[in-house]
Amino acid sequence: MTVLEVAPRGPLSGTIHVPGDKSISHRALLLNALATGDARVRGLLRGEDVMRSLAAIRALGVVVDDDGETLVVHGTGALTEPEDVVDCGNSGTTLRLLAGILAAEPFHAVLTGDDSLRGRPMGRVVTPLRALGARLDGRQDGTRAPLAVRGGTIAPGARFDLPVASAQVKTALLLAGRRGGIAVREPDTSRDHTERMLRRMGADLAVDDAGWLTLAPTPSLAPLDVDVPGDLSSAAFWMVAAAIVPGSCLTLPRVLVNPTRAGVLDALRAMGADVVVTPVDAPGAEEVADVVVRHRPLHGARIDGALALRCLDELPVLAIAAATASGRTVIADAAELRVKESDRIARVVAGLTALGVDVVERPDGMVITGGPLVGPAPIDAHGDHRIAMAFAVAACVAPGGVRIAGAEAIATSYPTFLADLDRVRAG
Ligand code: S3P
Repeated sequence: MTVLEVAPRGPLSGTIHVPGDKSISHRALLLNALATGDARVRGLLRGEDVMRSLAAIRALGVVVDDDGETLVVHGTGALTEPEDVVDCGNSGTTLRLLAGILAAEPFHAVLTGDDSLRGRPMGRVVTPLRALGARLDGRQDGTRAPLAVRGGTIAPGARFDLPVASAQVKTALLLAGRRGGIAVREPDTSRDHTERMLRRMGADLAVDDAGWLTLAPTPSLAPLDVDVPGDLSSAAFWMVAAAIVPGSCLTLPRVLVNPTRAGVLDALRAMGADVVVTPVDAPGAEEVADVVVRHRPLHGARIDGALALRCLDELPVLAIAAATASGRTVIADAAELRVKESDRIARVVAGLTALGVDVVERPDGMVITGGPLVGPAPIDAHGDHRIAMAFAVAACVAPGGVRIAGAEAIATSYPTFLADLDRVRAG
């Protein structure tokens, strides 16, 4: 286990080209693996999670060339049975999207992952896939990884009303039901990258007034070249760092700002942050912008409802911003945080408490009253990349610094994070 020590070192300044977006990187590989023809992918995130998706499609018989810059996915419209267990590591996106893909394939496959992934709930995807006609079995109540999948003919025209908004589950169902058509509805709109990509690959997807998203029968998909924009979720660490460290200014070029994802920009503005977003031309299906954040004292805000969903992955680092702000911040309607790579509500509350912050845990979030952070503080990342990076940001303003156990998890989504931190702190 790697223990990372970070201590304050003055203002942060400069430009950070954050790595490619994780959600789009997974989809660029997994969706193009289903297409018929060659797709070029540039700017792919080379983090451990996405490398799991790459290894998985290769294990399913898809040839991928990689010159270190551009990957070419040679889709044939067909997958083959993997010879061995497919290890998704820490990546919930890999496991859930693959479960959907494999539900429609007439062969046997076993999906597993690390301790964290094997402990995460999969019933939300397993139950509807079973209802479609796929055979899935797992540990405990039958829904935990390792998951054995034997797919095949999927009932056409099925409809699912999802109890929880989840892009992973929505995507899994769309991919499972793509050949015969399927309709899904969520209580709120989760990130819509899959819909945008499928449309560009030739699929007919429509949303009606009642919120049903219907995918017409899609016998084949055209390959889609993807230029992966910078990951907004990775950029969020720098946005908060620049906002809270006095004297800082960071520029983040070409970051994804898809509105279904961009709640962190709204949340920071609601806290009084100085955030300038300049849209740039981008060839793909997604909105991209240059983002500049300058230090300015923050105040508390309420982050709940649809806004909380639009910044769910960024809530741990927004909690750090809240801890340094004046007044109270309420984070609510975010119970999903408890079933991410760790229980992120519990981890953030424990970490902030160690830093001397007044924080009250709630079932669906927390209430934070801002004040000075007091280090040195021991933090346990519990194998969760976003917890490790959020507290590395906190360390920039915590006298005495922070010691983060389990910081190796950072490599799942942002392998160059510590190098970038060192560089912008050197001025
Ligand atoms: C993701 C969807 C979200 C998000 C995760 C990536 C995706 O999870 O938290 O980091 O790429 O579809 P849920 O779909 O479970 O909400």
